[in-house]
Amino acid sequence: MEQYAIKGGNPLVGDVEIGGAKNAALPILAASAMTDETVYIDNVPDVRDINVMLEALQNIGVAVKHSDRHKVILNAGNIHSLVAENEAIKKIRASYYLMGALLGKYKSAEVALPGGCDIGCRAIDQHIKGFRALGARVVIEHGLIKAKAERLTGSHIYMDVVSVGATINIMMAAALADGLTIIENSAKEPHVVDVANFLNSMGANIKGAGTDVIRIKGVNRLHGSEYTIIPDQIEAGTFMFAAAVTKGDVTVKNIIPKHLESITAKLLEIGCEVKEAEDCIRVVSSKPLRHTHVKTLPYPGFPTDMQPQITVALALSTGTSIVTESIFENRFKYVDELTRMGASIKVEGNTAIIDGVGRYTGASISAPDLRAGAALVIAALSAEGFTLVDDIRYIERGYEDFHLKLQNLGAHIELVETEKDFQKFKLRVG
Ligand code: UD1
Repeated sequence: MEQYAIKGGNPLVGDVEIGGAKNAALPILAASAMTDETVYIDNVPDVRDINVMLEALQNIGVAVKHSDRHKVILNAGNIHSLVAENEAIKKIRASYYLMGALLGKYKSAEVALPGGCDIGCRAIDQHIKGFRALGARVVIEHGLIKAKAERLTGSHIYMDVVSVGATINIMMAAALADGLTIIENSAKEPHVVDVANFLNSMGANIKGAGTDVIRIKGVNRLHGSEYTIIPDQIEAGTFMFAAAVTKGDVTVKNIIPKHLESITAKLLEIGCEVKEAEDCIRVVSSKPLRHTHVKTLPYPGFPTDMQPQITVALALSTGTSIVTESIFENRFKYVDELTRMGASIKVEGNTAIIDGVGRYTGASISAPDLRAGAALVIAALSAEGFTLVDDIRYIERGYEDFHLKLQNLGAHIELVETEKDFQKFKLRVG
């Protein structure tokens, strides 16, 4: 099993190209199955969750071809199954996007109940509520969600919680329903807007994405399209915090600064310099980091997917900081690992009370999930001595070439498989 061997202490310096947004690409790839015509998608990140989605699409009969590493050509003209239940698909949360896509186009879908990161109870009641409001019968049987309808009819749907996944799923199904659907209290994340733009590029009629009311006038059919996925807000934010924590100077390139405003604001509050240009942001960390408080919220609030990364920074900042997790109830599991590296953090319910310490020290740690795994790597990059990070398959779910991009910024990080490899790494960089 591969692990990351890390020697901390080097400030990260340089430029890093940010890839396409995983959480936009997943529903966009699923939505490609909503037309019989060919769809060309650019800026698709080469990460494990995406490859699982592509495999699931192939399994139901979608022709999938890469024209280069980040360009995917899909044709769903010969779908032979409306059942997605292979082992891999159960492991990604985004498998549920096949529901909205297939139900919209074929009025029938059966998809294995979603997995994904273990960060708390991840209900799908709002997805089901939306599909039912459109006229589908939905049952959960033998580990599958099954939805069927003679026809889907537009409806007025009020979401009880702000949910990215449910908003996108209902939007996809409603795109091919009869009449008008209005989703109230919809999620406003950039990837919701990206999926709406993609569906519109295929002939859908969706207005209001990016606000909390989305209006979808159903159309009869969707056609082929060429589309480029937006940059990954969370990958960019992760490198911005890596700069902060390692006392570095990093420019994240190929990004949309507007999507990163809540992250930029927090970096300024804790004492970093942040300079924005049209499609890049430079983060310079030259002063001691200061404490602050943060609460995760739906967009445009501070993203829950950046909570572990900011906690890693605050645990190194002077004074006491409070981090409140308001989206997922079980998202502080990595704190035990960070404590082993010297952090002083007390978790009470959905709140972490952090007393800043001067430094981390390297340790053997495990990545508990995708974002926490990346955050622990950042901590290790700033730590005194060596760290071995286990379970990096979680990190590979959502970060393309993570260790290579970090190496390019001057980090001592390598993939190792055995204790002997780790010893060799120590000798080489020691
Ligand atoms: C997506 C992202 C994930 C991110 C999250 C919040 C993907 C693949 N994953 O997850 O990285 O952390 O948005 O930005 O895009 N909820 C319900 N009922 C539902 C649906 C959700 O109660 O039917 C609750 C969840 O338990 C959670 C909150 O709503 O407390 C937000 O979840 P949601 O926005 O749906 O997250 P995901 O789409 O699963």
